[in-house]
Amino acid sequence: MQLIETVERWRKTLDAERLAGASVGLVPTMGYLHEGHAALIRRAARECDVVGVTVFVNPLQFGPTEDLAAYPRDLDADCALAARCEASFVFAPAVEEMYPQPLRTAVSVGDLGARWEGASRPGHFEGVATVVAKLFAQAGPCRAYFGEKDFQQLAVIRRLTLDLSLPVDVVGCPTVREHDLLALSSRNVYLTPDERKVAPCLYEALLAGAAEARARGATPDSVRAVIERLIVAVPQFTLDYVAVVDPSTLTPASALSGDIRLLVAARLGRARLIDNMGVTV
Ligand code: PAJ
Repeated sequence: MQLIETVERWRKTLDAERLAGASVGLVPTMGYLHEGHAALIRRAARECDVVGVTVFVNPLQFGPTEDLAAYPRDLDADCALAARCEASFVFAPAVEEMYPQPLRTAVSVGDLGARWEGASRPGHFEGVATVVAKLFAQAGPCRAYFGEKDFQQLAVIRRLTLDLSLPVDVVGCPTVREHDLLALSSRNVYLTPDERKVAPCLYEALLAGAAEARARGATPDSVRAVIERLIVAVPQFTLDYVAVVDPSTLTPASALSGDIRLLVAARLGRARLIDNMGVTV
């Protein structure tokens, strides 16, 4: 496993691999890698000849009151995990390498990035879309692996890839969970033991919402109400939003038919947790 820190070296390395006939898999991350990231890397390694993991805590996607400075980091552990999962390269540029001058260009995906997470975190998806467009431009033609854990992010990235004709196949991968079904997240380290105990309630509320969605007479509003009631019942949680949406446009579902997606976000102590679940009615 090779660690690369400059854009120039990264480009040359992946160009040489493609020239030699290798297919390239890309796994963009902000590091502090866990089993959720590992699943993406292992899948990329199964499906591509070489895999590059990018580790970059992107300042652009953090709001002024968010946890940029506190965001957990451990590049040595990340390189070790990437190597165990059969990644060939880790690309970990410094902020000045990624953004050598103040940006004048930004990528935004309109309404898709403005609702839900975008409404709670203004500018977040513009930061994500901009850095992912840069990561794709730097990496060149590849398959890029993203988790469904960040469902809206995946939709935003699919859309920007389509809109900008980027030569990348975006692959969505299922959410990896702890034994009690809490979705793995680098931010789970912020939870106190007490908070950690109640954290799976978020997933349990989604399960109850999915059951309601399949019940006779259910409506998007009744599904939302079931999920909300279960989260609000846990005093440690501060609910942010519950949404019942069309999985491709992320607009509110007008009826419960076909594929729908349940989205939820809530604050728990210092952590802000998100989760989602697909339901076919
Ligand atoms: P990060 O939060 O590090 O996540 C990197 C990738 O891992 C994302 O595609 C995310 O959806 C996926 N992931 C995280 N937890 C997961 C889990 N429990 N199961 C499956 N996949 C999981 O998302 C980002 O970084 C950044 O926004 C990034 C796309 C790298 C742009 O900066």
